[in-house]
Amino acid sequence: MTRVSENLSPELHAYLVAHSSPVDEVLTDLAAETERLFPEAVRMQIAPEQGLFLTLLARLTGARDVVEVGTFTGYSSICLARGLPADGTLLACDVSEEWTAVARRYWQRAGVADRIELRLAPALDTLRALPATPRFDLAFIDADKESYTDYWEELVPRVRPGGVLLVDNVFSHGRVLDPAQTSARVQAIRDFNAHARADERVELVLLPIGDGLTLARRR
Ligand SMILES: C[S@@+](CC[C@H](N)C(=O)[O-])C[C@H]1O[C@@H](n2cnc3c(N)ncnc32)[C@H](O)[C@@H]1O
Repeated sequence: MTRVSENLSPELHAYLVAHSSPVDEVLTDLAAETERLFPEAVRMQIAPEQGLFLTLLARLTGARDVVEVGTFTGYSSICLARGLPADGTLLACDVSEEWTAVARRYWQRAGVADRIELRLAPALDTLRALPATPRFDLAFIDADKESYTDYWEELVPRVRPGGVLLVDNVFSHGRVLDPAQTSARVQAIRDFNAHARADERVELVLLPIGDGLTLARRR
């Protein structure tokens, strides 16, 4: 029998969080403020254990130059920026002035504002305007799902060999498995997952953390 990852019950999830490194006050306050200001949108924020994972992964890979597609109120950007050395850089891409205004405040509070450059524009425009050279050590994709494959195609050539790509929500909350789910958003995730799997420029694994996180290494 093939061994499978545990199906996380709420209790096991709580245990997992309780036995991972603690989430500090800055991130806890950010999560609470996001929930208060934007109750409809707060579910877009990454899970706390994903945040810990991003910091650890940035640190473990020695990442210096990072790009994020989809910043929202700043949770993942803080986690990524914290994993960088003092002279590291994070290019944060988003379109929302309102949501990223919160991010800017929390970048200051987390002491990482000097590492982050925010580009407020459709991320595809931002990425296409970058030199087509492999300058990034790590790329994180977490924006509009319909553009995932386009983001991937812009980012893979811009990540250095040995560098890492991370892609969030690759389970689409389980909807990828349900044939009745025919929305453009879910189909885009299915198409993206198949596209990335067939991409010989990377080796990858889908991690069952949060709503599914693809971890890919550029060959
Ligand atoms: C799932 S949220 C990102 C959550 C964030 N990573 C966090 O940890 O809180 C998706 C974000 O993508 C942004 N977005 C949507 N379409 C975009 C586009 N075409 N270009 C850039 N950002 C976009 C939204 O404004 C939103 O802030």
